Amino acid sequence: ALEAQVPSGGKKISDELLGLFFEDINYAADGGLYAEMVQNRSFEYDPTEQQGWNPFSFWEYMEPGYSYGRIGVETSDPVHENNPHYMVVDAEFIGNYEEHEGQSGVGIKNLGFDGMVVKAGDIYNFSVFLKQLSNAPVTLDISLQGTDGTVLAENKIQSTSKDWKKYTTNLVPSQSRDTTHLVILATTKGKFAMDVVSLFPEKTFKNRPNGLRLDMAQLLADMEPKFIRFPGGCLVHGDGLHNMYRWKNTIGPIEQRVEQRNIWGYHQTAGLGYFEYFQFCEDIGAKPVPVVPAGVSCQNSGGTWRIGGKGQQALPMDEMNEYIQEVLDLIEWANGPATSEWGSKRAAAGHPEPFNLEYVGIGNEDKMTPEFEERFTMLYQAVKQKHPEITVIGTVGPFLDGEDFEKGWEISNKLKLPMVDEHYYIEPDWYLGNQERYDTYDRKKAQVYLGEYASWGNKLYNAIAEAVHLTAIERNGDVVKMASYAPLLAKKGHTQWSTDMVFFDNTTLCPTPNFYVQKLFMKNSGDHYYENVVNFSKKDTTLAASTVMDSNTGDVILKMVNAGKAPKNMEVNLSKFKNRVSKATLTVLTGDPEAENTFDNPDNVVPVTEEYSVDKKFMYSAPAMSLSVIRIKTK
Ligand code: AHR
Repeated sequence: ALEAQVPSGGKKISDELLGLFFEDINYAADGGLYAEMVQNRSFEYDPTEQQGWNPFSFWEYMEPGYSYGRIGVETSDPVHENNPHYMVVDAEFIGNYEEHEGQSGVGIKNLGFDGMVVKAGDIYNFSVFLKQLSNAPVTLDISLQGTDGTVLAENKIQSTSKDWKKYTTNLVPSQSRDTTHLVILATTKGKFAMDVVSLFPEKTFKNRPNGLRLDMAQLLADMEPKFIRFPGGCLVHGDGLHNMYRWKNTIGPIEQRVEQRNIWGYHQTAGLGYFEYFQFCEDIGAKPVPVVPAGVSCQNSGGTWRIGGKGQQALPMDEMNEYIQEVLDLIEWANGPATSEWGSKRAAAGHPEPFNLEYVGIGNEDKMTPEFEERFTMLYQAVKQKHPEITVIGTVGPFLDGEDFEKGWEISNKLKLPMVDEHYYIEPDWYLGNQERYDTYDRKKAQVYLGEYASWGNKLYNAIAEAVHLTAIERNGDVVKMASYAPLLAKKGHTQWSTDMVFFDNTTLCPTPNFYVQKLFMKNSGDHYYENVVNFSKKDTTLAASTVMDSNTGDVILKMVNAGKAPKNMEVNLSKFKNRVSKATLTVLTGDPEAENTFDNPDNVVPVTEEYSVDKKFMYSAPAMSLSVIRIKTK
């Protein structure tokens, strides 16, 4: 019935236009969205990662109260072959002198990711794998301590098994602190091995175990993205063949996942793995868009991270069949019945129903070599043949490297791909001067997924330039099917990419002006586009506008952008929309072009919403440097 309200003259556009691109860059996963509080929980940190990292990194030895003992890392009998290193603690003597008022024991302390934030009264779930190596059982004191040694929460566990066994307890801090440490002390004599030491807040997003940081996941959910592309980026094709992101390594119990250095040079536990990505998508109503390597590594691959690169490496041809099967297995894992080989693994993880996967990206910004083309073609044809219901998204290389971009489109045209992934990171002025980019795209060729784009910077001017581009993307929403800003998350002090959408530390989220532009467009999306509703001089490239209708709600949404230094008038003509309700809402994001959000002032640039009255025709004065969104109900 609502469809009937859509006035004629509109163009049907994608109803899943704007989503998120999540890459594990800038500590976006471990230490970021993934809520694990223990850093290097499995003692798998490696010297090939950051300089000086090793299995002991972020752990400190402790022997308080005149105790003594020793620790060491061993590999002879691990919890699982995928997780080879574990810590051995030998508590040789536990002091107990009357004059010592603090703790006595032998053990280790974890420093977390820049410390651990705890809230008084909240529950923190601790787990560890232990194997008793001495005859007598060992009692362990598990505590959260302030940097001054104050014990904020404490509990005990006792190792009872000579085989690896998982033990759990919880900790409830008596005080809130931003920088605590986790201390594990043997308080009785004995020797034991430990691995996969984990501490999670009980309050994760949707209370999922092995879940996501609540405030951050909620911030993303509140944007109402239509899809999430994951897990990268360059991270997908990786720093050499051994470093490709292989989805099978990231599912199942966390102690069985394969950890590795990621291409951005730090450690990836894969605790946030494919199951968690798909679950998050489902939890927020976003379609999952996984990207798999196209059988080649990143063209910047090198012996050490991005230094002295060996260039793109290709999987040997005799490994391709197995690799193709790996990609087909992903589709079965996501969509197959719980009785199928791979669907049963999804079911075992707690999700018997299919995840309803529709898209698979193959490749990321790859160098368009003959080796790439051959492997991509094999993968594409195999998926198309076995799963015609899946839309494969190809890659056309970075736009600025013209050659690969042209070649990527040539391959796409030859194979008649349904969709390709374009990327560009450019100065803000480019977006103003290239508003017609997609107007002339051939609608008979592949549709576009603009998988990565941004203007260089997080000032208001950058965000407004991106808003200009987004109006052009909405106008071309018949050929641009999806678009996502990149990168999404960046941890303060741990960034590899300077321009990002949301900065964060352990306590604070700092969404940029660019974030608010994305959110305003996502929350005010439509499925029909209308020309000539907002009118202004097209010669003025600092102005842009788009008009969409959401046929589900019947709402008409005007987005008006002024990237200039003075207010400008725009003429609005709503006569084609019958049954308008004059009481509308107006949301404006505006300010100084140089303005940005900082950790000291994260709300410096935020949108403001007020009631607004609309007539059939009216003049709107768009403030200097602004995005204005007017949302109008139709009865
Ligand atoms: O978004 C950061 C990086 O930019 C991505 O990993 C890569 O695809 C692009 O070069």
